[in-house]
Amino acid sequence: MRLDQFLAKTKGWSERTARQEILRRVVRVDESVTVEHRREIDKFSRVELGTCLLQEGLRRVYLMTHKRIGVVSATRDPEHPTVLEKIELPERDTLHLAGRLDRSSSGLLLLSNDGRWTSSITDPESHLAKTYLVETDREIPFEAVARFQEGFHFLPEDIQTKPAELQILDPCRALVILREGRYHQIKRMFHRLDGIRLRSLHREQIGDLRLPDDLAPGQWRHLTPSEVSLFLPKPGEKQN
Ligand code: URA
Repeated sequence: MRLDQFLAKTKGWSERTARQEILRRVVRVDESVTVEHRREIDKFSRVELGTCLLQEGLRRVYLMTHKRIGVVSATRDPEHPTVLEKIELPERDTLHLAGRLDRSSSGLLLLSNDGRWTSSITDPESHLAKTYLVETDREIPFEAVARFQEGFHFLPEDIQTKPAELQILDPCRALVILREGRYHQIKRMFHRLDGIRLRSLHREQIGDLRLPDDLAPGQWRHLTPSEVSLFLPKPGEKQN
């Protein structure tokens, strides 16, 4: 919302009055006087009129968590604990998830209250690589590498999966690198190879960000500024 519209709404003024007040240099946005009535105001902006605080401005929060098996990738769930269970922050209710993992999966999950940032991770056009370590219930055939590369047709949705990379580490252990995230995608791709089932599925990495070894299952921490900047939309990129 524009600053003049924000003031009109908050103070019950007309937009014209709001613009006149802005020109009197009595409005401060994020600690600086502004005369720009078109200045964009969002939930993160601090807005003051003279000595009166109109909006405090929400703190931007960027987190990583090591999702443990058994919790759901949701902010609310009637039956199961959610990934927010241990995040005791005042901003907790403003957080949303940048992608999901199945309840039976573990690994790196990102959260924020900055919708532009989470969209730059979840946007299918970003083609962000996500790396998973899987353990299977039986030997992975070598043809699986080519099958993952070719893609699979998933019937109910009528979609073809994009080329995925499979690196076989041991007979029953592999890394899978996906650039998309379809419903139960990895489980379904393995199941198409003679019914192979997964014993475990763990997300190790999103883009260039790895789950740190010292972050135990269930733990979370704030991202560092350089970690946040790994996913900032580049100038000129589509913004939501
Ligand atoms: N693929 C799956 O099948 N499950 C996940 O949690 C993530 C990718």
